[in-house]
Amino acid sequence: MSKFKTILITGANRGIGLELVKESISKNFSVIGTFRNKKKSKELLQIKSKNVNFFEMNVIDEKSILNVSNKIEYPLDYLICNAGINNGYGTFFDEDHSHKNMLKVLDVNVLGCILTIRNFSRHLYTNSKIILISSIMGVQEHNGSNATIYRASKAAVNNIMVSISEEFKSKKIIVSSFHPGWVRTDMGGPNAPLSPNESASSLIKSFENLTFSSTGKFFNYDGSLINF
Ligand SMILES: NC(=O)c1ccc[n+]([C@@H]2O[C@H](COP(=O)([O-])OP(=O)(O)OC[C@H]3O[C@@H](n4cnc5c(N)ncnc54)[C@H](OP(=O)(O)O)[C@@H]3O)[C@@H](O)[C@H]2O)c1
Repeated sequence: MSKFKTILITGANRGIGLELVKESISKNFSVIGTFRNKKKSKELLQIKSKNVNFFEMNVIDEKSILNVSNKIEYPLDYLICNAGINNGYGTFFDEDHSHKNMLKVLDVNVLGCILTIRNFSRHLYTNSKIILISSIMGVQEHNGSNATIYRASKAAVNNIMVSISEEFKSKKIIVSSFHPGWVRTDMGGPNAPLSPNESASSLIKSFENLTFSSTGKFFNYDGSLINF
């Protein structure tokens, strides 16, 4: 077993995922970052550090997930399902909510987490932590009609988090979901109050503080509990 804490982060090439990679390196974690598209991953692939490996992986392509899983030779302490999409903040009648666009959001945000966790579960052991990056937009009580399917996808992420936590209870594997805050990324936009670094550094601290009593629960990036 590696003497370093090991962390796997999906969607590691930009936004919150990229900052989670940098923060994990600063903590001397052994880092596995996955990216979907080499051309869009220059900043990630330029990172040179000990105990860092990057692999191409699409979270909705099971073959590509399995391919990465087969390359991993040590147990994971943290499995972070960060990759996600928001096809827009349009209203119910906008093109954002065409059948095709809605399926894509559900596919990446919900099925992507399930496929990732299923295919990496053999690298998890007692006290490993599975973290699903969700959103406050997925809480059931809200008053927005925009981004209908994104909200629904994140509500589903919190829902599957509970089922998965039940599945892994007997193995003492912790499963929780997190809202990363409203963050200045391509998805969050320029008006968000948090920098990716502020979100990621707080998230990593909160991940470290998770205990078995945290399993099945949804947290804010600062570690406070969110009712959903
Ligand atoms: N930013 C916010 O304010 C905010 C708030 C609440 C929740 N979140 C959640 O936080 C997570 C990260 O968001 P972000 O703001 O960092 O978004 P972002 O800047 O848009 O980055 C999204 C990441 O997901 C990857 N991704 C998308 N589809 C993928 C697929 N099929 N396979 C593998 N990777 C894929 C992207 O890769 P490519 O570069 O290849 O597209 C990219 O690395 C998401 O789950 C998001 O829903 C964000």
